[in-house]
Amino acid sequence: MCGIVAYLGEREAYPVLIKGLKRLEYRGYDSAGVALLDNDLHVYKKAGKVSELEAFVADKNINGNIGIGHTRWATHGVPNDTNAHPHMSNSGQFALVHNGIIENYAPIKEQLQKSGYVFHSQTDTEVLVNLIEEVKKQEKVSLEDAVRIALNQVVGAYAIVVIDKENNDRLIAARKGSPLVVGIGEAEFFVASDASPIIEYTKHVVYLDDQEYAIIDRDGTFTVKTLGNVEISPFIQQLQLDLESIEKGGFEHFMLKEIYEQPKVIKDAIRGRMNATDGWIKLGGVSEFANRINNAKRIIITACGTSWHSGLIAEYLIETLARVPVEVEYASEFRYRNPIVNESDVVIAISQSGETADTLAAIEIAKERQALVYGICNVIGSSIARATHAGSYTHAGPEIGVASTKAFTTQVVILTLMALQLAQQKGTISLSYLRQVLYELDNLHVKIEATLKLDSHIKEIAAKIKDVENALYLGRGYNFPVALEGALKLKEISYIHAEGYPAAEMKHGPIALIDENLPVIILATNESAYEKIVSNVQEVKARKGIVIAVVNEGDTQIKQMADYVIEVPKTEEVLSPLITMIPLQLLSYHIAVMRGANVDQPRNLAKSVTVE
Ligand code: G6P
Repeated sequence: MCGIVAYLGEREAYPVLIKGLKRLEYRGYDSAGVALLDNDLHVYKKAGKVSELEAFVADKNINGNIGIGHTRWATHGVPNDTNAHPHMSNSGQFALVHNGIIENYAPIKEQLQKSGYVFHSQTDTEVLVNLIEEVKKQEKVSLEDAVRIALNQVVGAYAIVVIDKENNDRLIAARKGSPLVVGIGEAEFFVASDASPIIEYTKHVVYLDDQEYAIIDRDGTFTVKTLGNVEISPFIQQLQLDLESIEKGGFEHFMLKEIYEQPKVIKDAIRGRMNATDGWIKLGGVSEFANRINNAKRIIITACGTSWHSGLIAEYLIETLARVPVEVEYASEFRYRNPIVNESDVVIAISQSGETADTLAAIEIAKERQALVYGICNVIGSSIARATHAGSYTHAGPEIGVASTKAFTTQVVILTLMALQLAQQKGTISLSYLRQVLYELDNLHVKIEATLKLDSHIKEIAAKIKDVENALYLGRGYNFPVALEGALKLKEISYIHAEGYPAAEMKHGPIALIDENLPVIILATNESAYEKIVSNVQEVKARKGIVIAVVNEGDTQIKQMADYVIEVPKTEEVLSPLITMIPLQLLSYHIAVMRGANVDQPRNLAKSVTVE
């Protein structure tokens, strides 16, 4: 949450900052601001999207080749101009942008107020910038020392960049718990929450680690130190990302582009990790800790949001295929409920961003209790990827639409491979069945392509139900988590209230909601429970609900009863979520577009939730 960008070099800073903020807008879009240093320090900030900031500064002085910028997801204080970042210290000498939360801001603020500081905003960030100013004044130290001393006094999470009005040759950036990457160009530096604002200028980057700060100077000096004031040699990495992957590429929205990328990213996720003919699977991280994983007494999966839904699918996969007990926990609950975890457990943490604060905290608990922690992340080099003992990347490429689509499908692919690899090791599946599933997985991109071709039909269905206020999603077995995820997709981008339910549970509550206005989206591809689903369809129809059924191609029975059917290619039941999810993504997308909602940046949400 919140995006940070900063520049120091020979270019005009403003265009770099504004472009960078647009790329980071997925992290929050409540307000945006920049501080530009020329002969004077100019701070411009505005509630709303980056485009509103752009309009606001149109007639202002935007000169300067050093500057910092911020796009906000509000935590402390409502999203207004005053609470927008950057925040200035009382003397006006320092400006700071911040991503994270300073938990002990209240006592520090009180202390500063006693010393005469005045606060204009409700933010914890304004407290931090004034603390830095106060430390500098009292201790008579350099800005670098003041930043370090101040950060040692605060509790919480942060990524910050500070600029000093008296020194247009230096930026100071620090991180703890929130990501920060420094781009190193020819006589120029970039700092950002992720690499997307940097990629078009340089491919050389340094990811700061927790409790580290960087002193970045115009003369090309770049120093990284720990908060204990020990200098360390930064590890310069070559970015693998390309510009194309973070642009819309002709699609109207990132979400649609990402839905359409699924055949490709599924191939990327399995590449080199399996062979259907020979019947092998090799997930690097799993092989490395084979002993502990194969002998795990229990697997605990922890995640948030969409990633939690892919964890639920994994529960079905691992228990069915490998016969190991699995528990799936919301990371936010796991971390605070004193869970029983021990060294014979394996904890799988799933996260697209690799930065979700609750998931990171859950990992720490699992590690303290000696469990092996395995990460499934999309963002390479992210905090969760680094905090876990081993893991697999999903290789979905940058996901920019706030509603997760391709990250989900690739998570499910990795979890399927994990379940199959474990089952093979434990001898709970036959080689012929393993080959059959792997062969199907290897070719699944073709069936996903075919499912995407149903887009215009799905759009027609969307047009029929776009004005409803509620929707119910039902599924059984592997399709139950898909129902949950389908409901989440609809509510988060179209603001229609939607619930996902196990189909059989409908009669214990949701059935009371059914009338002629309620669309009920029923996932009916499971062969093993087909007759039961037919009964559920009948129950809905008997109460005049609008049935939208996702069925296998060639279905006859449900087709006759449903109001609308979406016929998808048939696949192995263990792989069915990878197919049934696609029409639900498209349905939500079209409904949201038709309702005029901002699909890529739904209200109140953020892509990367670095606060608890
Ligand atoms: C936010 C995003 C969701 C995501 C969830 C977990 O709520 O909007 O799309 O599923 O965070 O994020 P993670 O990056 O850990 O998968």
